[in-house]
Amino acid sequence: MPRSKIAGIGFYVPENIVTNNDLTRFMDTSDAWIQERSGIKERRFAHRTKETTTTMGVEAARIAIERAGITPNDIDFIIFATLSPDYYFPGCGVLLQRAMKMNHIGALDVRNQCSGFIYALSVADQYIKTGMYKNILIVGSEKHSFGLDFSTRGRNISVIFGDGAGAAVIQPTEKENQGILSTHLHSDGEFAEVLAMYNPGTHANHWSDKPHADFEDKEMGEMFMSHAMIEKGQNYPFMDGPAVFKKAVEKFPEVIHEALDDNGLKTSDLTLLVPHQANLRIAQFVQKQLKLSNDQVFNNIEHYGNTTAASIPIALCEAWEKGKIKEGDLICLAAFGSGYTWGSVLMRW
Ligand code: ACO
Repeated sequence: MPRSKIAGIGFYVPENIVTNNDLTRFMDTSDAWIQERSGIKERRFAHRTKETTTTMGVEAARIAIERAGITPNDIDFIIFATLSPDYYFPGCGVLLQRAMKMNHIGALDVRNQCSGFIYALSVADQYIKTGMYKNILIVGSEKHSFGLDFSTRGRNISVIFGDGAGAAVIQPTEKENQGILSTHLHSDGEFAEVLAMYNPGTHANHWSDKPHADFEDKEMGEMFMSHAMIEKGQNYPFMDGPAVFKKAVEKFPEVIHEALDDNGLKTSDLTLLVPHQANLRIAQFVQKQLKLSNDQVFNNIEHYGNTTAASIPIALCEAWEKGKIKEGDLICLAAFGSGYTWGSVLMRW
């Protein structure tokens, strides 16, 4: 059975750089607070009308496809991961297929937030191993800037997110020392309301007994979207940051160990860990827990913020472009986020 390899990778971030100081124009925050708590200095925001989650995904995909030495017409399946789609439905996969004038191939949308790219890669891996597809395009893209509360009310969430896209072409490889060794996926829906955007939705207050579910206003949940929801800011994401932080620092090391143990490998064997860029403090905590050197972990959240489904492919691509990844290197990708969902991918480049 062949293994799957990343044959080409690309990323795209909008030109517009938004610094922490820029955010102080809209909300009560400071560069010092944001850097100290998250390590973020700046992020990119997409052009309000000219760029969407799909168009950024297309830009990243073009680079990945070219680097794989193929054309858009060679792609036989699309997997698109995002939590900020252009439309509520249909998903971005078909919009990308249309924008790139691809054949009428399958397009699958993945809804796993920060773990979206890991889940997408895992799905692609199965299709490649069974021989069903030969050139799968996976994309993670987010236009967070369109759906955040930039008033002081939303500051605990809005300061950490940024826009951007990453993409990869997945192909089979028969090489002994190359390809995806394993993928591990997890979820715990008990914490679904801890980091979520409840509206618009069909929940009708059904889950109001769950911790964190802020549905006390009965009227609000009776509609898919209402003026009351907008007035109360319930059309924006909610996050209990400290709760997410605590769980993330537990699950990241766990799922990385799971990947290494399954393959009879140790943390010292790792060439590079590319963690989802949620918060630099989380990545530093994980690095310390796993006793990894600075050279073994790649972070770029300082410049892009948390780009959710796009963060791993952006970081992986940037690490590759900087020459930090070479053929045969042992690479681990790991993510944790809303759901909760978490997972890892271990591969030989
Ligand atoms: N600027 C200034 N002060 C702020 C800001 C801000 N932007 N945001 C919150 N504060 C204040 C709070 O009001 C609070 O003040 P108080 O003590 O007077 O009440 C104080 O700072 C501490 O707030 P916390 O929310 O406890 O801050 P914390 O140290 O936890 O940092 C952060 C917040 C950075 C969000 C952190 O909790 C975190 O990174 N959590 C994990 C995020 C994450 O990993 N998310 C998953 C990925 S996202 C996804 O899946 C979609």
